[in-house]
Amino acid sequence: MAKEGSYTGTAKWLHWGMALVWLGAWVIGIVATHWRDEFNAHHELTYVHKAMASTLLFLIVVRIAWRLSHAAPALPDSMGPTMKRGALVGHVLLYAMALIGLPLSGWYWSSVADKPVMVAALFMLPPIVDPDQSLYDLAKAVHTNMSWLCGALVGGHLLVALKHHFVEKDDVLKGMLPARDR
Ligand code: HEM
Ligand code: HEM
Repeated sequence: MAKEGSYTGTAKWLHWGMALVWLGAWVIGIVATHWRDEFNAHHELTYVHKAMASTLLFLIVVRIAWRLSHAAPALPDSMGPTMKRGALVGHVLLYAMALIGLPLSGWYWSSVADKPVMVAALFMLPPIVDPDQSLYDLAKAVHTNMSWLCGALVGGHLLVALKHHFVEKDDVLKGMLPARDR
């Protein structure tokens, strides 16, 4: 049972677990492509990137099911209706782009490239579409540009969370942190 003003324990585990996987996959994706000769000569980082990031496709199903059956805590009254709507739009964008669209675009890219995707080194994801080298450049551009856009989105999300805590001094960040006494 969640405390008033706080997400449930399960929602917190899912948020922070997926945030860790997401941030790790993002950094590894950048290092894998921009420092290829130094760190990714045998595609070892690409393998890790895909094995980590692909787990998000499964975790998001659990997360959305949990979220739909467990309401988020109410936002503080100090936030006006426009700010509250902004927070909702930001969260929907994080779900749709960072946690669903971006992993799907990576899966699509690997599928058209006819390259394997392992899920956490456990099993292989089947291709989402047939291989087609003529779509390779498009798929690569979509995943790469989307990854930078989502990086900016997550950066903004982090800054807003810190602003709530240190500037507004409200309970928004505390509501996502481990259990506390009010
Ligand atoms: C099923 C999931 C995913 C697959 C199969 C996948 C696949 C790939 C592949 C093949 C690369 C190129 C690596 C290389 O050339 O060595 C890449 C790059 C990248 N991916 Fe993913 N990816 C997935 C999900 C994600 C997610 C969730 C994120 C964000 C956390 C992400 C962020 C990136 C970034 C930042 C790059 C580097 C882009 C650049 O060149 O600047 N990917 N991905
Ligand atoms: C970098 C550190 C992060 C911090 C400090 C942080 C902080 C927070 C906080 C305080 C909330 C609750 C907002 C509220 O009560 O309205 C939240 C919600 C959320 N966060 Fe994060 N977050 C971080 C990383 C991430 C990442 C990497 C993702 C996904 C890529 C993410 C996705 C979300 C989503 C989708 C929600 C909405 C939850 C819901 O109501 O269903 N967060 N985050």
